[in-house]
Amino acid sequence: MKTANEIREEFLQFFKDKEHEIVPSTPVVPADDPTLLFINAGMNQFKNIFIGTEKSKYIRVVDTQKCIRVSGKHNDLEDVGVDTSHHTFFEMLGNWSFGDYYKKEAIEWAWELLTKIWGLDGERIWATVHDSDDEAKKLWTEVTSIKAEKVLMFGDKDNFWEMGDTGPCGPCSEIHYYIGEDINNQSADKINSDDPDYLEIWNLVFIQYNRNSKGEKKELPSKHVDTGMGLERVVSLIQGKKSNYDTDIFTPIIKKIESLTGKKYEGDDQVSFRVIADHLRSLSFSIADGVLPSNEGRGYVLRRLLRRAARFGRNLDMHSPFIYKLVSTLSDMMGNTFPELPENLKHIEKVIHSEEESFGETVDRGIEIFNQTLKKAKKENKSLISGEDAFKLYDTYGFPLDLTELMAREKGFSVDIDAFEKAMDVQRKRSRSGKKFSVDSLIPEGVEIKVEATQFLGYETLEADSEITQIITNKNKSISLLLKATPYYAESGGQIGDTGLLTNDTLEISVTDTQKIGGSHYLHIGKVIKGKPKVGMNIKASVTSERRKNILPNHTATHLMHAALREVLGDHVRQAGSLVDADRLRFDYTHFEKPTIKQLKEIEKIVNDKIRENIKLNTTITTFNEAKKAGAMALFGEKYGDEVRMVEVGDFSKELCGGTHVNRTGDIGLFAITQESSVSSGVRRLEAVTGEGAIKYFQNNQSVLSEIEELLSVKGDSIPARVKVLSDANKKLEKKLKTSAVSSKSLELDAWLKSAIEVDGIKLVAKIIKSSSIEEMKQIADKLRDKMDSGVGVLGAEIKGKAQLVVIASKDVIKKYGVSANSIVKELSSMIEGGGGGSDHMATAGGKRPELLDKSIKQAKFVLAKLIKKK
Ligand code: SER
Repeated sequence: MKTANEIREEFLQFFKDKEHEIVPSTPVVPADDPTLLFINAGMNQFKNIFIGTEKSKYIRVVDTQKCIRVSGKHNDLEDVGVDTSHHTFFEMLGNWSFGDYYKKEAIEWAWELLTKIWGLDGERIWATVHDSDDEAKKLWTEVTSIKAEKVLMFGDKDNFWEMGDTGPCGPCSEIHYYIGEDINNQSADKINSDDPDYLEIWNLVFIQYNRNSKGEKKELPSKHVDTGMGLERVVSLIQGKKSNYDTDIFTPIIKKIESLTGKKYEGDDQVSFRVIADHLRSLSFSIADGVLPSNEGRGYVLRRLLRRAARFGRNLDMHSPFIYKLVSTLSDMMGNTFPELPENLKHIEKVIHSEEESFGETVDRGIEIFNQTLKKAKKENKSLISGEDAFKLYDTYGFPLDLTELMAREKGFSVDIDAFEKAMDVQRKRSRSGKKFSVDSLIPEGVEIKVEATQFLGYETLEADSEITQIITNKNKSISLLLKATPYYAESGGQIGDTGLLTNDTLEISVTDTQKIGGSHYLHIGKVIKGKPKVGMNIKASVTSERRKNILPNHTATHLMHAALREVLGDHVRQAGSLVDADRLRFDYTHFEKPTIKQLKEIEKIVNDKIRENIKLNTTITTFNEAKKAGAMALFGEKYGDEVRMVEVGDFSKELCGGTHVNRTGDIGLFAITQESSVSSGVRRLEAVTGEGAIKYFQNNQSVLSEIEELLSVKGDSIPARVKVLSDANKKLEKKLKTSAVSSKSLELDAWLKSAIEVDGIKLVAKIIKSSSIEEMKQIADKLRDKMDSGVGVLGAEIKGKAQLVVIASKDVIKKYGVSANSIVKELSSMIEGGGGGSDHMATAGGKRPELLDKSIKQAKFVLAKLIKKK
């Protein structure tokens, strides 16, 4: 049997032989596209090439693209596991023509590969074309041996492919395959009818238009081919399986789940197995590509998938983390094609484990609450889970809405989504304060950028002559100017935007921030100080050089620290966010433990060593592939064809980065880590300073140290020992103070005894005393008993706003009169509105009403008399 790895290889090789360049899959996180959470089609990375705004290096390309379909226009989540052919994560095999071959070759080669190379049965193949596409229909019968009646025409819904509401689109031709038992009984009506015997396997899209934001289809200057075939499905056909989960893409994972759970992949449990196996792939690949579970955006998709999988784990009686144990199996299976899995194995396992653990704390309780909710609804004869209950499950027990919906669906219930959304809205409003503005809010609604991309000059110069190309007035009265070219660096890659002045004879504008939109246009945001800016005006753009000069060393030091972190803590360390400011740098990275002081010192030392080596930085513009080959650390988003900027510090650090840097590491001067903290589970933060900032930091620490030296009269190294001595001495003193308080009280005991009264022959001391703790009171009471030989003592005190009583009784009193400390305290405690108890010898009580202490002490003699009488 051919393996999935062989089948993928054959696909790539088939098109390579037809002069296609094999290019790698992009990460599942899209570049520069905030509208798309995950890559959902092979063509995402080629979108700009189709539209014509980007040139491709090759005219024919072939690849396998990692895709995730869990949101937006293409969302398969609900089918996953219920059927055996949809997945949240799948590989899309594709061959591409950028303005080169078109329908004829696409159809001819698809047929050749399926029937000749892979030996699929041509008699089982059906083709569909768009109802306007006579050309494709004719080609099918001309260039393949398919029977004419097996080429069907459908409308836009089935045969016009669009990426989203806007973007490249065109008519398509789909290939369907009959997997039923009776080859002589195939029927055209079954195509596109969701009949499980007819599987859609390949989509050949003839990209011809671009749909703009007004919804209009604009003819493109060139025509392209975009094909997409689900690897998992075609493997199931070639391996002769009815279900994708029976192919070698899934069987090792299914087997591992069997061995971990002790359950068999059979009966009703199958759905749980499939969901877990499917979600494992989405989770592992997106974590490998840099996503971390969180409460919004991509991170929340991950969290939802993990929680769904964990819930299905509960169906298999798995109540502790186990999904993370499947990652190594997946990595073994797919690591050759996707090295990001083995490279990040430990990290992926840790992230999944920690998420499983934190959800595990609430999931069982949540399921219980859900079952109660269901019972309640059933009793009331309802088949709807209220929005309030769904929100409570979400908010308190961490159940994503789709999980609650799924659980409801399993029992024939639905969820009141509107009411849930309302509850969400209320919460959102409550928490919507202090959020950083989003890029979309950088320009007022309705304003369109119509001018050419800004040319960036800021690597070479801090001052340049330029021209105003567009002026935008913002809501807060500030203005944003677009210039033809600019030395201003716009905030990106963590580095903050430049500030400065835009001037000419009549004009002066103070720029307080620079931001980028669409990755290409620089907004100079600021205030007019003098004159009136006009489009077309020539101006001089100058960056505040002092500020920029302070930013450079912080950015380079960030790269050095990143490399040092990986050296000291391990390769799993990945950047999870950064801020490069003029006075400090902040770096978030993935790591699960708090680094030790020794490790932090080590990191600080490595960075300073590199600074003293005074290494010259090398910046090159290269291709993404070359940079990856050279071992550069890439953040997400670059694509195979992109030109990238690689910043190298000798062999020590290589990163893809658009930021501005020092010339030589020596320019950084000095580096100091100032703070270490935790950001969220699995993400830690370091803050640091460089150059003058680092000198100030060390000097400040030195003055604090000198002050301490003076105060303690010892020198640096001896301080810890001295502090230890002082703190030990302090502890001893505190203890002593307590005992001396007790002994000073004991001096008063004689006086107390003198004033003792007698109740039916029993000596009674009842007093309000001053004390700081119940412990101390007990010690005093003990002393009193020792001294009085025979009798009863009742002591009361107000401690921390509460009434406290301690009662003692001597042995003979207990024996002779049958009166115990416990029985006395029981009577007295109700008087201070409290409770208490203890032994015959000693009992204590506490109450809320200190103002009643006096009264209760006065009552002691009556209580005693009463208890004696009882006897
Ligand atoms: N773009 C098409 C799809 O996603 C073919 O690659 O189905």
